[in-house]
Amino acid sequence: MMHAHWRPEGYTVPNATVYPWQWLWDSCFHAVVWAALGEPARALTELRSALADQDELGFVPHVRYPVPGSRPHASFWGREASSSITQPPMYGHALAELARRGVDVPDDVVDRAVAGVRFLLEHRARDDDGLVTVVHPWETGCDDSPRFDHWCGADGWDRRRWYEVKGDLLATVERSPCGSPVANPAFPVAPAGFNALLAFNAAELGLRHEADELATALGRRWEPNLLTWADGDHASGCVRTVDALLPALVSPRRRAEALGQFDDDAAFGGRFGPPAVHRAEPSFDPRSYWRGPVWPQLTYLLALAGAPVGDRLVAGAVASGLAEYWHPDSGEGLGAVPQSWAGLAVVVDGA
Ligand code: GLC
Repeated sequence: MMHAHWRPEGYTVPNATVYPWQWLWDSCFHAVVWAALGEPARALTELRSALADQDELGFVPHVRYPVPGSRPHASFWGREASSSITQPPMYGHALAELARRGVDVPDDVVDRAVAGVRFLLEHRARDDDGLVTVVHPWETGCDDSPRFDHWCGADGWDRRRWYEVKGDLLATVERSPCGSPVANPAFPVAPAGFNALLAFNAAELGLRHEADELATALGRRWEPNLLTWADGDHASGCVRTVDALLPALVSPRRRAEALGQFDDDAAFGGRFGPPAVHRAEPSFDPRSYWRGPVWPQLTYLLALAGAPVGDRLVAGAVASGLAEYWHPDSGEGLGAVPQSWAGLAVVVDGA
């Protein structure tokens, strides 16, 4: 799959038909997979490519369109070759993983990764708790998460309406003079999961102090009755989603309580991995995009945090035919098949 998805421009497509361009956090996970497959040169090439359109403030766009003849979203994003928002800065982890495997990572790539994380730490608007805001739901990577349902309008969540709202939210993004997205007054949300990944990647790049500060701020977001970290923007900002348990990566204090839910079949347990939404939430739907299926990249991250889900990631990747996401109880493949980040199963398998 990885070889079939490799493109001569130097990156791996998530899926050849559904996702034929380069996505930022996908590419970071692909780099980890390439390294585990014994191909560190490809891993580095893919990371360089993912970071290639970084701007002078450090902002890294979340989609790149490296092939000039295949740039259908230029008017949507307001720029030709890339999107104008970002995704979780997983390049910190990818580079640290390469270094742990003995790969000599060139300084210029490390410098770009540090600049990407620093952009988020220093130029992004913060909320009252001192956490970093995203400018758009897509920046979290968790597009249709029920955490955002209250932003969909008074009539409740509806897929088509949500897509329109997401389009509208692009218009209110505030930008620096060079075009980097720095705030969105119409969406001032600082998600727990995004901040956890920012802190985790900062720590992976040696920015310990900055990582600790965010981890401390996340501590104020723990909801003891719900056993989740809240997004802090609204009541539905504490819907129990699996990405909201990612602070366990950087916060030992609540780790045991948070991760205990992966052994509970009424919570986040599942033979083929943790469902994206707690099973008792009214929005839980095990076949619906971001509203219940298992996501391999989140499962991998939770395994890194100490959750007992590595074997389930492997079982789900195999049963689903390396799907984009899958059913937590049957392993039925959902979304695009095959999807490159399901290759993360070889990483935990080899661990
Ligand atoms: C979907 C996912 C996003 C991912 C992209 C490519 O948009 O929600 O997280 O990066 O697909 O796989």
